Amino acid sequence: MKTLIVYFSLEGNTDYAAKRIAGNIGADTQRLISKKIYKSKGFAKFISGGRSAIKEETPELESGDIDLTGYDCVILGFPVWASNVAPPLRTFVKEHQTELQAKSLAAFACQGGSGAEKALAKLKGTIGIEAFAAEGIFIEPMRQQSEDTDAAIDAFCEEVKGL
Ligand SMILES: Cc1cc2nc3c(=O)[nH]c(=O)nc-3n(C[C@H](O)[C@H](O)[C@H](O)COP(=O)(O)O)c2cc1C
Repeated sequence: MKTLIVYFSLEGNTDYAAKRIAGNIGADTQRLISKKIYKSKGFAKFISGGRSAIKEETPELESGDIDLTGYDCVILGFPVWASNVAPPLRTFVKEHQTELQAKSLAAFACQGGSGAEKALAKLKGTIGIEAFAAEGIFIEPMRQQSEDTDAAIDAFCEEVKGL
């Protein structure tokens, strides 16, 4: 099964998880770059990203058109912002909704504490599906560098391999 991991990461945690998953299951990766610049330092980052997440914005992407042809499975990865999906991933999902509905889909969210379940539910609603084939929730895997989180990422990989 050919798998593509499509993800957005502001501060590197989702990037860390995406790369660990890709290495484990042998998937390709595509990191989304937003044309709208989100602040990544201090309290300002919560204002800039939080407001955008609450308004459910769909910022334009710089990543160009992402060709999903040839992929059986797509894994979506994002940081939780204000208990919601980080907006650049929403843009990708909205632009590829019909194609995504025809794939085997999994998703993972990186968060500091809470809100991932709500965000994953919103993401399913945006795509128009009932469930992901596999779901993972990871606590800041890069910043916190915990063996438990790495083990949770690897457990998610085993689920994806079983699809
Ligand atoms: C704008 C913004 C809003 C956030 N909102 C939440 C939240 O609602 N719940 C939570 O647990 N963490 C929240 N966080 C923390 C991030 O989800 C967490 O640090 C995540 O691992 C960051 O992933 P990244 O490094 O790939 O950007 C927020 C971070 C930002 C920048």
